[in-house]
Amino acid sequence: MHEFDEEIDALAAKILEYSLIRLKKDPPLDGPWTYDELYAELGETITEAGLGGERTLDLFKHVLSQACISTDHPRYLAFIPSAPTESANLFDLVVGASALYGGSWLEGAGAVFAENQALKWLSDLAGLPSSAGGVFVQGGTVGNLSALVAARHNARKRESKIEKWVIACSDEAHSSIKSAASVMDVEILTIKCDKKHRLQGREVSKAIDEFHGNNPKKRVFAVVATAGTTNLGIIDDLDGIGRAANQRGIWYHVDGAYGLAALASPKTKPLFKGVELADSFIVDPHKWLFAPFDACALIYRNPEIAREAHTQHAGYLETLNKGEWNPSDYAIHLTRRTRGLPFWFSLAAHGTNKYAESMDKTMELARQSAELIKEHPNLDLLMEPELSIVAFTKKGWDTTDYQRWSDKLLNDQIGFVTPSTHEGKPILRFAIVNPWTTITDIKVILATL
Ligand SMILES: Cc1ncc(COP(=O)(O)O)c(C=O)c1O
Repeated sequence: MHEFDEEIDALAAKILEYSLIRLKKDPPLDGPWTYDELYAELGETITEAGLGGERTLDLFKHVLSQACISTDHPRYLAFIPSAPTESANLFDLVVGASALYGGSWLEGAGAVFAENQALKWLSDLAGLPSSAGGVFVQGGTVGNLSALVAARHNARKRESKIEKWVIACSDEAHSSIKSAASVMDVEILTIKCDKKHRLQGREVSKAIDEFHGNNPKKRVFAVVATAGTTNLGIIDDLDGIGRAANQRGIWYHVDGAYGLAALASPKTKPLFKGVELADSFIVDPHKWLFAPFDACALIYRNPEIAREAHTQHAGYLETLNKGEWNPSDYAIHLTRRTRGLPFWFSLAAHGTNKYAESMDKTMELARQSAELIKEHPNLDLLMEPELSIVAFTKKGWDTTDYQRWSDKLLNDQIGFVTPSTHEGKPILRFAIVNPWTTITDIKVILATL
């Protein structure tokens, strides 16, 4: 198993050939099979004698891969898709082949150095000081949780007699904030957004002051603003919320898992004024920064606080504590894949201007799509897109109609667009993050409505 013999050599050629074809050709959309369909084709794949590399690769090629939707398909517009650059995908092969350990400087100095330069690019774009730093974690959920754990650690050091810690966020905040609160056993203070679904600084100030007045034993330890909501791409009043949090000495976290990617373009960067006030923020390169799964950039204004909160201690780990930058120390993890390297490679190879161009291209397509929806006789645009999410409704349709249409669109292998809800009513949304998606793709989908 551990020797590169002739059989493995032949398998390597086949795996590389398969990978290159997948990268060169337009991806198939594909879709889920049922368990029974998969079992009928595959049966038990884990056997005592093994199936052999070629046969196992065939099972992946002809069955398993076809039962997975290609998230980089240009007409995959559901949830938040993924659109890695060719170089990022190719470098992922290198990362896989290199047995890199990304947890410590001792073991992974070169990789950590490169990842940190990519993180610094993001941190500088956000306007954090040069002393800021962080780590690539698995996704926005873990990024948000790790930041909030650091925030509570910091708050606990200052006030020890609090009975319940509380996170303040809007009713539009991502579900991962609720999940973090549940894992941390803290409460959530939900603050209502304005009519445009944007959380405002003055509402945050008012809500926190009232809450503290009414609940002397509870304390808000973090305010979370969203820089690009998942459903509609709305950016909260980052500046006002940041000031509200800073004035009260409360940790300010910006969840920009999807939206903060648009810092990459000088045209969209001004939308995020106020992010420079953050104590921590996240952005997922696997969403709109053209990196493969899974990579969330988590950045702290003062990484020392995060290091204190997250460093694991044990006799066998003490040898790592030599004052160097150990990525393990900045989130909830120890062993880690150097998951930021494909992003770094592509960024270093292409340069940041290309990222700005791709960002602008997807933004422009979102605007054009909104225009087409406005002209469409059966559709109503929900609001002008602020980022690259375009939400709309179809006249006279209920939840069942939307779901039936979405299922048929996938079954017919036209596209993948799933229904969502807004203010309790069903909607459709296009999340456009893929520079391969063209206006023709959008027209093809709109023609089915
Ligand atoms: C605003 C926001 N925050 C957090 C997340 C969670 O990120 P992940 O799915 O990478 O855990 C998402 C995912 O879409 C998101 O849109």
